[in-house]
Amino acid sequence: MRSLFVVAALLGVGTATAQTYPTRPITMIVPFTAGGPTDVIARIVGEHMSKTLGQQIIIENVIGAGGTVGSTRGAQAAPDGYVLTMGQMGTHGAAPAMYPKLKYDPTTDFAPVGMAAGTPILIVARKQFPPATLKDFIAFVKANTAKVNEAHAGAGSVSFTSCTLLNSQLGLKFTQVAYRGTGPALNDLVAGHVDFMCDQIVNLVEQVKSGNIKAYAIATPERSPALPNVPTTKEAGLPEYQVTAWNALFAPKGTPPAIVGKVNAALDKALDDANVRKRLLDLGAVIPAKNERTPAWLGTFVKAEVARWTPILKAAGAKGE
Ligand code: MLT
Repeated sequence: MRSLFVVAALLGVGTATAQTYPTRPITMIVPFTAGGPTDVIARIVGEHMSKTLGQQIIIENVIGAGGTVGSTRGAQAAPDGYVLTMGQMGTHGAAPAMYPKLKYDPTTDFAPVGMAAGTPILIVARKQFPPATLKDFIAFVKANTAKVNEAHAGAGSVSFTSCTLLNSQLGLKFTQVAYRGTGPALNDLVAGHVDFMCDQIVNLVEQVKSGNIKAYAIATPERSPALPNVPTTKEAGLPEYQVTAWNALFAPKGTPPAIVGKVNAALDKALDDANVRKRLLDLGAVIPAKNERTPAWLGTFVKAEVARWTPILKAAGAKGE
């Protein structure tokens, strides 16, 4: 009988906690440096979510190993709703194939909260890089493979994974330069210190528009309204290269569903807010449809992404640190 009272008490506490959640600031882990695509999306949606939840959302950039250091921190946090992780296609899609000793399974060690934004991938290069078009780029890098270097945000990151697919399709391997995020990688691309990158549109719109970097193509079936002059890979002669990355919110496994529901509702409200939508759309992000915003949809999607990227990365012989 006594154990029944204990269970009832614990359930009661759980319900009370969920009802009063959140009672203090929330940390949102971003597994890459400030100023990169994952960070930008986290700050845009986080700013609005904090208004809905009535508590500050503090962005914590936890760097390293293609985003897996921060994501491990997020998986191992207390399941109380006060530590969230802005994961993405790298940390929650590519990482299992890249890191045999990965300390989390993206399909089981998180409570999916919701999709935040789709982020189409562009092939971009430094302004002075000789090729003018994607076809010229392919010919040039095939003829000069040993001299060309590629920037990315760490083994298994979105930028690394997206270019691994491109390089596999071209049958090429380049010298790779790893950064702590594609924010700093972009700085070096603008400065001409590195040749090309496969990166998320939300990081690139401003520099492409200002002519500080070249954009050869966007790897989506349609052009982006944010960069209408950038051809699709299909138009540019490489139709098989199709990649849209994504950024999504996760809580640790075991977080009470009522708390996940509150955070999910705040994210959903942010994605319906006119100002948030404008900021995301101006950066070329794709706002998830209503049916793509549920925790269940994200859980299924993460499983599909791990299944998609694992054979691609293994076939390419890609390895994490
Ligand atoms: C990546 O996976 O390439 C990251 O999203 C880059 C970043 O956010 O800095």
